[in-house]
Amino acid sequence: MTLISLAVFLLLLWIFFIVYKTYLRRYKSVKNVCVLVLGDIGRSPRMQYHAISFAREGFVVDIVGYPGSPPMREISENERVRIYYLRPPPDLQNRLPRLLCYIVKVVWQTVDLLWLLFNKRPISNSLMTQNPPAIPTIPICWFYCVVMEAQFVIDWHNYAHSLMALNLGKNHVLVRLAKFIETTFGCRAKNNFCVTKAMKEDLENKWAIQAKVLYDRPIDKFHPLTLEEKNEFLGTLSEKYDISVPFSPNRSGFIVSSTSWTEDEDFSILLNALQEYENVCETGELNLPDVVCAITGKGPLKEFYMAIINLKKWKHVVVKTPWLENEDYPKILASADLGVCLHTSSSGLDLPMKVVDMFGCRLPVCAYNFNCLSELVRHNENSLVFADEKELGDQLIKWFQDFPDNETHRHLRKKFEENMFSSQQEHNDWHGNWKLNVLPYFQA
Ligand SMILES: *[C@@H]1O[C@H](CO)[C@@H](O)[C@H](O)[C@H]1NC(C)=O
Ligand SMILES: *[C@@H]1O[C@H](CO)[C@@H](O)[C@H](O)[C@H]1NC(C)=O
Repeated sequence: MTLISLAVFLLLLWIFFIVYKTYLRRYKSVKNVCVLVLGDIGRSPRMQYHAISFAREGFVVDIVGYPGSPPMREISENERVRIYYLRPPPDLQNRLPRLLCYIVKVVWQTVDLLWLLFNKRPISNSLMTQNPPAIPTIPICWFYCVVMEAQFVIDWHNYAHSLMALNLGKNHVLVRLAKFIETTFGCRAKNNFCVTKAMKEDLENKWAIQAKVLYDRPIDKFHPLTLEEKNEFLGTLSEKYDISVPFSPNRSGFIVSSTSWTEDEDFSILLNALQEYENVCETGELNLPDVVCAITGKGPLKEFYMAIINLKKWKHVVVKTPWLENEDYPKILASADLGVCLHTSSSGLDLPMKVVDMFGCRLPVCAYNFNCLSELVRHNENSLVFADEKELGDQLIKWFQDFPDNETHRHLRKKFEENMFSSQQEHNDWHGNWKLNVLPYFQA
């Protein structure tokens, strides 16, 4: 009797196996890649770049993420790229305790993501996800890849647990849970990419994860502008965004910074440096131009800093905080005289993409120093690095002394431009670099 039931069981198992294999063969496409980010697709440049590069190399790309900002035109108008939007979780903040909110959100995301992935046709042959966020993405992607026999790939931009620790503290239960999940399932990816050498070493030493460094590179639209194009754009800027950079009688200096207005960027540093600039202008001791400082981006702390900015009664410094259309962002970088980057990293292991974009436009930056910044920005070689508001203030003053006719500075800027990507000995453009480092892992 038991022998018969065992035989029947094995037969059923075998039938199931055959059906399952047939199903995979029928619906799976070798040339389909799923690129997933549990965030606003339009604000996930690196994942969009991956998608564009896959499409350029003949893959069909299913990009999965949240709606919000419009994705790049190369995505939305690309017939090889399909966008799948997840449903944003209900906004329960302030209505439930924080932990409960978090649980509801994760359950919502889990169901939504599973539903979307398992219903999407064709079945992807590979799935690349961005980390962070790790929960619930990484376990679910792993599960999908096991069931569908797909290649599981993680692109490590940072760590989810170190980002959470900024808000909750290192020893919070959620942070420890995040770390556990991130590492347990992170180890199971077939291939890993990451953004810096420092992160590669960290992944290897702590968790024995072998990752390949794929530095961020500007895509083609981040390029320098001619003088004519700059002037034309500055005209647009004043009409469209109410930012005027005066040309006469004297030319103003133009500073650009971009941010997502979160806790990990302390904008009071820039505001205090600008205050210092204003003070020195007031004394009239140095020949300094007025400056216009445009800070682009959206985010939670914008209101807070706007309130501080509005209290300043500066005569020589104007601060504007526009939200630019996608197409105008590269142009504003290319039209500026100096970029400022206040990015610090929660893990100390990732690099600011905005500096990469600025370098693409050949815009020198003043960058706030942290752990692995030197993999991209080196002081006095390709830009300036500061440690506090005092140093930033001094750098602004020096940079704009006798502007725009300072011979010393013209030479310095030329040197910076030539050295912008020289610390990272690889292809200068994203796609070339991508083809070299990523494509081989996706060719059958
Ligand atoms: C323009 O600059 C010159 C010196 O370079 C200065 O004497 C003059 O006052 C400036 N004009 C204005 C309106 O700031
Ligand atoms: C140029 O800037 C430097 C500071 O970086 C300053 O010492 C010098 O006086 C400025 N002017 C000229 C004409 O070089």
